[in-house]
Amino acid sequence: MEKIVINGGAPLRGEVEISGFKNAALPIIYACVLVRDKCIIENVPNVLDINRSFEILRGMGATIKTIDRTTVEIDCTNVVSGTSDYSLVRRLRGSYYLLGAEFGRFGKARVAYPGGCDFGVRPIDQHIKGFKALGGEVITDGGYIEISTKIGRAKGTNIFFDMVTVGATLNVMLAAVLGEGTTIIENAAREPHIVDCANFLNSCGAKISGAGSDIIKIRGVSELHGCRYAIIPDMIEAGSFMVAAAATRGDVTVTNVIPKHLESITAKLEEVGVSVEEFDDSIRVSVDGPLRPTNVKTLPYPGFPTDMHPQMCAFLTTVQGVSFINESIYDNRFKYVQELKRMNAAVKVEGRMVTIEGGVTLSAAPLVAVDLRGGIAVIIAALTCSGQSEVTDIHLIERGYDDLVGKLKQLGADIKKVYVPDPVALKKAN
Ligand code: EPU
Repeated sequence: MEKIVINGGAPLRGEVEISGFKNAALPIIYACVLVRDKCIIENVPNVLDINRSFEILRGMGATIKTIDRTTVEIDCTNVVSGTSDYSLVRRLRGSYYLLGAEFGRFGKARVAYPGGCDFGVRPIDQHIKGFKALGGEVITDGGYIEISTKIGRAKGTNIFFDMVTVGATLNVMLAAVLGEGTTIIENAAREPHIVDCANFLNSCGAKISGAGSDIIKIRGVSELHGCRYAIIPDMIEAGSFMVAAAATRGDVTVTNVIPKHLESITAKLEEVGVSVEEFDDSIRVSVDGPLRPTNVKTLPYPGFPTDMHPQMCAFLTTVQGVSFINESIYDNRFKYVQELKRMNAAVKVEGRMVTIEGGVTLSAAPLVAVDLRGGIAVIIAALTCSGQSEVTDIHLIERGYDDLVGKLKQLGADIKKVYVPDPVALKKAN
């Protein structure tokens, strides 16, 4: 076990390079199951959810070679359907892409129910509705979801999702790409990672059009070939560093980004009074004037991302006046609030609305990373206040942030990772 120790209070300054996007890398890695050939994937982030996904695929018969720190070669030719490890699959949300990928390649699938951060109920009814529409018979049994078909492949159809869902849009895309005929997804999610996964599949010979709009058309093809593909930069990692720069009143340039993907975050920071300069593939964030409170509503892309809500709340605790965050995607993404309160933050939650009375001086405290983005939010809060804070359960942060401690150190933060003996293991050893 490890914890992060922070002596906060100093502004972050300098340049930080953003890694590949975890939420794009996940569907792309599982999409390799559809390809009986080698795929070389570049700009892969070194994070737990990705490394666990490699472990899952290796366990199913894939060969995965590391070419360099951010490039892998994935060959899923020999993958066997229905053999994914139950306990690994249930440790992450993104493993649900295996359902669409197995269904797409083999016309059947057997995968454990996925895990992921706990934000209240996270149903997968729209994924199942999509699989059924594609001709799958779906049953859930003993913690597994099983799909079978009479014709041995998905059958093209029209699907209208009841809500905008990233996961179900991608899963139907994966299932339909080798299907018979044409599939049209309506009310599709428009996130940059949907476009990235479609671009990857098209580089392998798929025929997908419309990704990035709310209508996606997938014309089934009989096989896919290998390709070389670079994953887009992580807009949430970039947004987290931008907000950390603002919260510490620093001056940070995030590099290797696509500024267009960050527009909702940039606009909100500017509204608060933060200075944001956009360049071709970098953004500089600094604070040189007074800041004002704001209202934020999380929405599907291109709206303000729910995955930036806790970080924004941590920042707004430092801005004088009353701000509001309305969480419209998840019922319960508020566990991080109890941690901010330990630091004296004046934050309250009513229904899905967070009210922040900003400007109260935060104090360092022992803190817990309650989930991935809640974890980075408390790190940001700890960076803003003088004194020593400690953050435990950091494996949850490491699910999605590549070398966080190294990158923050590079920006001048006094931060380190410290080994903590596991009390349960110690007890057993004694
Ligand atoms: N929903 C349903 N039924 C479904 C699918 C979704 O009711 O079948 C609901 C969800 O409960 C949620 C909303 O629809 O209220 C949106 O869910 P979506 O399917 O878009 O989310 P997801 O695919 O489960 C991905 C990311 C999340 C990110 C959301 C929204 C991955 C592995 N996860 O989740 O990322 O919050 O999209 O953008 O890509 C994170 O990285 O911290 C994270 C939680």
